[in-house]
Amino acid sequence: MQINVKVGDFRTETADAVVFGVFEGEPLVSVAQAADAVTDGAISELIDSGDFTGEHKQTALLYSRGAITAPRIALIGLGKNENFDTEKVRQAVGKVVQELRDLGIKTLAISLPSETPQEIAQAIAEASRLALYQFNQHKTQGLDKIKELDSITFLVADEATKSMVEGGVAIGDAIANGTNLARDLSNQPPNHLTPTMLAEKAVEVANEVGLKCEVFDQAQLEERGFRTLLGVSQGSVEEPRFIILEHIPDGEGKDTVAFVGKGITFDSGGLSLKSGSGMMDMKHDMSGAAAVLGAMQVVGHLKPDLHVVGLIAASENMPSATAQRPGDVVETYGGKTIEILNTDAEGRLVLADALGYAAHYNPKATIDLATLTGAVITALGNVACGMLGTDDILMDKVKSAAEKTHERVWELPLWDDYDELIKSDVADVKNIGDGTAGTIVGAAVLKHFAEGYPWVHLDIAGTAWDVKGSSYIPSKGGTGYGVRLLIQLVHDWVS
Ligand code: BES
Ligand code: MN
Ligand code: ZN
Repeated sequence: MQINVKVGDFRTETADAVVFGVFEGEPLVSVAQAADAVTDGAISELIDSGDFTGEHKQTALLYSRGAITAPRIALIGLGKNENFDTEKVRQAVGKVVQELRDLGIKTLAISLPSETPQEIAQAIAEASRLALYQFNQHKTQGLDKIKELDSITFLVADEATKSMVEGGVAIGDAIANGTNLARDLSNQPPNHLTPTMLAEKAVEVANEVGLKCEVFDQAQLEERGFRTLLGVSQGSVEEPRFIILEHIPDGEGKDTVAFVGKGITFDSGGLSLKSGSGMMDMKHDMSGAAAVLGAMQVVGHLKPDLHVVGLIAASENMPSATAQRPGDVVETYGGKTIEILNTDAEGRLVLADALGYAAHYNPKATIDLATLTGAVITALGNVACGMLGTDDILMDKVKSAAEKTHERVWELPLWDDYDELIKSDVADVKNIGDGTAGTIVGAAVLKHFAEGYPWVHLDIAGTAWDVKGSSYIPSKGGTGYGVRLLIQLVHDWVS
């Protein structure tokens, strides 16, 4: 789907529908007022009758019957002006573009008032693409019934607004595409996305957007001592991969920020085998990696003045005669040893090596994203991810970015008191606690390996798929959670 920006008159626009936003309890904005005038008061009649109030996400469709070139006029409620923000825009736009798409319409135009700010244009573009996302790659039947928009045109009245809107659309477009890439990867069945294929995809993305990319294969991982990543993968016939993506800005002395993703392409639990139903969603266990790759694609497009490193530890977690055993002790990349008492707590193992490797970049911030624990779903549902870390300033930055993108984070404590739970009799640390405080224990294990830099861990097990209640986030499948947040953080960092 194309998103275009043009200076034009909605009266002569040839799209299948023209969309106008309406605030609740306010006079119509200029463009909607003009539409009302040419339709002989059709919009004010709707409002006066009480059938349409402009309540947030309310929609109405009018047939223009020749009053303008486009056959349809769509209204979208923006809610009360005093509650208006970018999240309200995203929710409203998501709703109206989905409804129009479902009518079978191919092209639509959105009429924007003069001086529409860049961040509103960004929100509209972002939400449009996010709301229209579908994952149909593996369907062969009923394809003729799938409805898709071909284009959305942002209609503006003057050149000054156009350049502002274009700026917003370029950013929103890149961010939505990165998020949809993360969704695609998360949704990909595990036989269609092995660690090797994930690495191939990373190389492809890097080449497209001009990122540096390096991939360590099995032999290189052995040579470099990524033993916990190798340990998780040793039960599988699929080789692990460690993926490094880098955006190197012009000039010297720029800050480095590292993003680290858990990339378990399928989590069976290993010898500590999950139940059948417990495995059903485990193709999504690489959603942290997907968010990192999606975000790096956006970084490649937007080229911020910041050194951004994306690290992905990719593996399958399978049971077999060669699988690691509960009781095994493995030396991590950084040299500390870990006793593996449950092979299903594998995310913290692959991340141990990745977080150890991140230290080489001397980052000002390292943020890992991982579908680490079922416990975070018990604690926070699918509304917020769990945030834990070693640096309050960095956590404040993450919180502030998350508020802007409405990817909610909620801090859980990472006090030393919890370290007691993961003391091992035979190694430096063990990979599970006593079953209490599951999300905190997961982070407490990671804390051992996230040394030498400010670090924040996001446990996205509850927010990475099957999230309900948002118009621009699909209610089934991967959400792409984290991509927008990471990009907002990068944006805030450089500005
Ligand atoms: N990938 C799972 C976490 C998970 C579970 C995400 C359910 C989404 C839904 C992770 O590898 C795992 O199995 N964690 C265990 C840890 C436990 C063995 C300490 C868990 O949460 O049960
Ligand atoms: Mn597991
Ligand atoms: Zn897992």
